[in-house]
Amino acid sequence: MAIIRNFRPDDVVAYVRLVNEIDELEKLGKATSVEHMKERLGQPHCHPEQDIFLVEENGLLVGYAEIWCETEIGRVILDGAVHPAHRCRGVGNSLLEMAIEHGRELASEAVQIPIGQKMTASQSFVEKRGFALVRRHWQMGLTNYGRAALPALHGYELRHFACGDEEGLCALQNLAFADHWGFRPNTTEEVRYLVNTALCHPEGILLITEGQRMVSYCWTIDDAIGSNKGYVRMMGVDPAYRGRGLGRTVLVAGIEYLRERGMKDIELMVDSKNPVAKRLYQSLGFKRKGIILWYQRRLSPG
Ligand SMILES: CC(C)(COP(=O)(O)OP(=O)(O)OC[C@H]1O[C@@H](n2cnc3c(N)ncnc32)[C@H](O)[C@@H]1OP(=O)(O)O)[C@@H](O)C(=O)NCCC(=O)NCCS
Repeated sequence: MAIIRNFRPDDVVAYVRLVNEIDELEKLGKATSVEHMKERLGQPHCHPEQDIFLVEENGLLVGYAEIWCETEIGRVILDGAVHPAHRCRGVGNSLLEMAIEHGRELASEAVQIPIGQKMTASQSFVEKRGFALVRRHWQMGLTNYGRAALPALHGYELRHFACGDEEGLCALQNLAFADHWGFRPNTTEEVRYLVNTALCHPEGILLITEGQRMVSYCWTIDDAIGSNKGYVRMMGVDPAYRGRGLGRTVLVAGIEYLRERGMKDIELMVDSKNPVAKRLYQSLGFKRKGIILWYQRRLSPG
């Protein structure tokens, strides 16, 4: 008999095992380690004991729902799965209902679910339950790339992130993404936390400054511990400084940093409705590898 309950801190090891078992069967790229999971769940805005639900059957975890609360922008994001051996028994439906109810309790206006393009069964599952496709994000990749010449900078300085830059980086990121669909403004505390995680190297955050002012950044991370794939987590330019080549320059510097670290592949994600960024990435050789489909169901109050 399956029960749904809240996550407890001592579930971490079993939770990681479940996520990895599902990933082994479905190759979703979600495989993780206990260390990485602890870091993920320790983020300042994450409340695992309230916002993660686990399905337990005969002492084994067989399904989960993670609800990421972003009510500042009117949404919660749901990520969940049921172990393939336990599907078609209503477990996923119960988890989804629970997540929707939790979103309502948090006074969210909508529940959003990102689903990979190839996950057609998941897409029809949510479509049947009132979710509609609202956005597409492209997963882009760069392979077999060589050294790229860094465009000359006049009047600006290119440097690595250093301790003490957290507040400036947070402000720049919030400014650069202010009009971006689905962007929740970050806090300095969150940026500080992320900078100190295992996959992030402060030198992998490239900054362009004009005097004391930070005007452009490219935040790279490792894709996984020991992986030779790098990831461009975020990049952006202060709106007052766009169209001057600073986005291209900082991105080239980020790519060059990853190349020097021996990264064979680089990936990133971009909103399909962001033509400027898409063109910039394509001009540097990035190709579309997949699409993440964002589904949404609006929540009526009460
Ligand atoms: C995408 C972004 C980083 C580009 O930065 P930028 O400094 O303005 O870009 P650059 O001046 O280096 O120009 C890069 C290319 O984009 C083109 N471009 C820049 N602004 C443009 C605009 N408003 N319309 C059309 N093309 C534009 C440039 O012509 C240039 O093309 P080229 O290299 O072939 O000449 C910037 O628009 C931004 O911060 N956007 C918000 C955050 C964001 O979307 N980040 C990426 C998320 S994945």
